[in-house]
Amino acid sequence: MPEVIIENLHSKAIHCETKTERLLDILSAETDWMSTCGGRGMCTTCAAQILHGGEQLNHETEAELKWRRLGKLPENERLACQCLISKDVSSLKIRVPDRNKFPGINYSD
Ligand code: FES
Repeated sequence: MPEVIIENLHSKAIHCETKTERLLDILSAETDWMSTCGGRGMCTTCAAQILHGGEQLNHETEAELKWRRLGKLPENERLACQCLISKDVSSLKIRVPDRNKFPGINYSD
């Protein structure tokens, strides 16, 4: 069963269903995760730093490539709304980028 660990949210572990789902939907169901454009690839507020397991995700989408070309999406980040978690993902470790943290949440770094 795929597992997503959010390192700087006290290593919160989210165990996922085996059906393919968007990472943003998985995160939003278990915690507050920013997504200003509603998951349409138009804002980058849903970005996640990928610490481990990124090679198991789907390829970057056109939206992600566009933001990289514009310098708004660093190489170590993916847009959670564009990432798919499938049964082929064993463990994904991510981090909330500083710029996308909510002020009222107690992050662990
Ligand atoms: S929610 Fe806006 S790009 Fe993902």
